[in-house]
Amino acid sequence: MKTRRILSLVLFLLFLASCAGNAPNTEDPPPPLIRVGFSQVGSESDWRLANTKSMTNALSEENGFELLFDNARQKQENQFLAIRNFIQQEVDYIVIAPISEYGWDSVLTEARDAGIPVIIMDRQIQVEDDSLYTCWIGSDFYNEGKIAVNWLDDQLALQKRTDEDINILHIQGTDGATAQLMRTKALEDAVAEREHWNIVAQLKGEYTEAKTYELVSEYLKTGESFDVIYSENDNMTFGALRALNEAGITHGRYGEVTVITFDAVREALQYCLNGKIDLCVECNPLHGPRVADIIRRLERGDSLSKKNYMEEISFSFSTLTPEIINAREY
Ligand code: AHR
Repeated sequence: MKTRRILSLVLFLLFLASCAGNAPNTEDPPPPLIRVGFSQVGSESDWRLANTKSMTNALSEENGFELLFDNARQKQENQFLAIRNFIQQEVDYIVIAPISEYGWDSVLTEARDAGIPVIIMDRQIQVEDDSLYTCWIGSDFYNEGKIAVNWLDDQLALQKRTDEDINILHIQGTDGATAQLMRTKALEDAVAEREHWNIVAQLKGEYTEAKTYELVSEYLKTGESFDVIYSENDNMTFGALRALNEAGITHGRYGEVTVITFDAVREALQYCLNGKIDLCVECNPLHGPRVADIIRRLERGDSLSKKNYMEEISFSFSTLTPEIINAREY
C-alpha cells in the first residue's frame, strides 16, 4: 500500500477513534478513495465503449474509487507510458486491458517493484513470470470461436450443404490480441478438420468498421466468391456488410453470404433480428462490477483465482426476440 494511502487511513482511523462512544455522525468523512489507474485499449468498437462505461460506472467516487483513465488509442507504447505514469502517481492498483498479449515483462516488473498490484482485464498477457500480475478477468475467446464453428456445422447440415465446398472470408482483429488469436485458432482448427471448408482470405480489419469496409471493398474487386463471413467483431462486420450492400451481394438468413460475428452489441443483434446477420456470439464487456469486486476482495486480503471467466451465450435469428435486445445493456 502506498505511503499517501497509509497516511489517509491512519488519519481516518484517528478521526474515528476521537469519535468513539459518540453516535455515528452523518458528517464523518468517508474512507479514503482507492486510487486505480486504468489503461484502456482505445475506442475502436461499440464493445470497447460499453466496456469503458462499465468500468467508469463501477469504479466511481460514490463506490469508493478514484479512477485515473487512459485511452491508449490502440497503441501499446501508449499503454506503457500510461502505466509508468500511474506508477509515478503511486496509485493503489493498476488495471490493464492489453492491446496485445506480448511485451509486458519490463513494465510489469516496474509495477511490481513499486508494490502496485496489477489486474489484467479482457485480453490476456504472456509473461515469463505469472506473478507479475495478480489476476485476469475476461472471455474464453477460443470457446466463442467454437460456438461459431459448431453453429456453422449445424446450419450447413440443416441446409443439406455438408458436401458442398464452403469458402470463408475471415476478418481478423488486431494481431496479437487474445480475441484475435483464439477466435482465429478456433476457425483454423475447424477448417483443418473439415474437408470442405476453406479460408479464401484473411483480412486484418483491426476491429474497426472503417478499415474493414476498405479491405472488403477492395477484396470484392477480385471477383472471388465466398459463402461465409467469419468476422472477429461486430464493428468489422458492419464495415463488411456496407461493402457487400454496395456490391449488391445479399447476406444473412440464406442470402448469398452467411454472416457470423462476435460481441453481440445491440446494433448487431438488430441486424440479426432483421435476418441480415446469422449468428452473434456474445463477448461480455461488463467487467466493471467484477473488477471493483476483485479490488475489494484484495483490500480484505481474500485469495482470488488467477483466471476469471465471464459468462457468455450466442444469438441467432431463431433465438432472438425484440425483448432480448431491449433488455441488453449495450
Ligand atoms: O478484446 C475484445 C475485443 O476487442 C472485442 O471483440 C472487440 O470488439 C474489441 O475491440
